Amino acid sequence: MGLIIKNIRGLVQVESDPRKYAAGKGMSFLPVVENAWLLIIGNCIESFGKMDEYSLDETNHETIDAAGRFVFPSYCDSHTHLVYAGSREIEYTDKIRGLSYEEIARRGGGILNSAKLLGETSEDDLFDQSMVRVNEIIGMGTGAVEIKSGYGLTVESEIKMLRVIKRIGESSPLEVKATFLGAHSLPEEFRDNRGKYVDIVINEMIPAVASDDLAEYIDVFCDKGFFTVDETEKILMAGLKYGLTPKIHANELDFSGGIQAGIKYGALSVDHLEFTGDAEINALLESETMPTLLPGAALFLGMVDPPARRMIDAGLPVALASDYNPGSSPSGNMKLIMSLGCIKLKMLPEEVINAVTINGAYAMGLADTHGSIARGKTANLFITREIPSYQFMPYAFGSDLVEMVILNGEVVE
Ligand code: NIG
Ligand code: FE
Repeated sequence: MGLIIKNIRGLVQVESDPRKYAAGKGMSFLPVVENAWLLIIGNCIESFGKMDEYSLDETNHETIDAAGRFVFPSYCDSHTHLVYAGSREIEYTDKIRGLSYEEIARRGGGILNSAKLLGETSEDDLFDQSMVRVNEIIGMGTGAVEIKSGYGLTVESEIKMLRVIKRIGESSPLEVKATFLGAHSLPEEFRDNRGKYVDIVINEMIPAVASDDLAEYIDVFCDKGFFTVDETEKILMAGLKYGLTPKIHANELDFSGGIQAGIKYGALSVDHLEFTGDAEINALLESETMPTLLPGAALFLGMVDPPARRMIDAGLPVALASDYNPGSSPSGNMKLIMSLGCIKLKMLPEEVINAVTINGAYAMGLADTHGSIARGKTANLFITREIPSYQFMPYAFGSDLVEMVILNGEVVE
């Protein structure tokens, strides 16, 4: 017994020969089969084709008629911090009044504010609060998500966060990847002894994370006012010894050297990249590292936009992610992220769709199983409402256009 979706107006991001990622001119290539059918068996995509060659025996399968609708592979959101306690709308007001992100952080707000709240929140409560966000993003079309720690900043609280992330992976239909981000911000008590905190990250946190197998990736906020290149390199090196692959925050606030540091240690992705020039672009061109842009954070903080157009025109791939977090991007809406990619970053609809599917999947090590409609890949997809074209998705930036969500071959919404 399988699941057939038929009369699909457009089956988007269909691959017979799956790509590792889309780069440069290839980012504007989006394979779409019009008037299509799709067959799912178990949790995998079995086959697809055009309706004029449709010959499946429907008696053996459940059938959904998707007339007038498009089918997209689920979004792969490769950068989030969606496990957190409470919220930070007070700082939002401070920002409206003119304080910068760094000023708020210096006054003990920002990440440290979330860390304080998280320390006071039980693991079960943290899980329940986070599951609200998980269910929200499932309903908006996300099928795979990377989630970072980094609001713990003590061994105990970082482990608590990572245990919650693991539990989300076990109890929701989302594919979840966990990243250890102990070096997200320097706790107040280490202000005059930075080396001590870096020591704790390296000698206490990383071994604890690895011994319980709680993360696959390691992140550092390598930027002005946060962690230096030297500190970042030490932490990444220590992580690599324990099998943690780098995936770092870089060049959000300045030309921090973070992009080059990430590449040097084989980062799967470097993320944010508002401050990216020729040297960074050239370094990325020589690497297999996915440049990942977070236009929700740039919008929310009123930052300069990263030079997406220059990057793609130079031949680079680009992934887009939500950065869902309480301080700089309190939204996991990947459809809105696509719209921001088009409106703010001047990316084409085809480019943003590649950026949130196949390139997002690569940026979290899931390109073989997620990010496109291909035989044998996990059946994670959504059916839209009736829309005139796939370009309508990023164009209608305020409308909810996801009608049905299918994850692991099962209808979940
Ligand atoms: O990706 N830039 C660093 N970390 C988060 C913000 C976290 C926060 O402000 O809580 C980000 O934007
Ligand atoms: Fe982030």
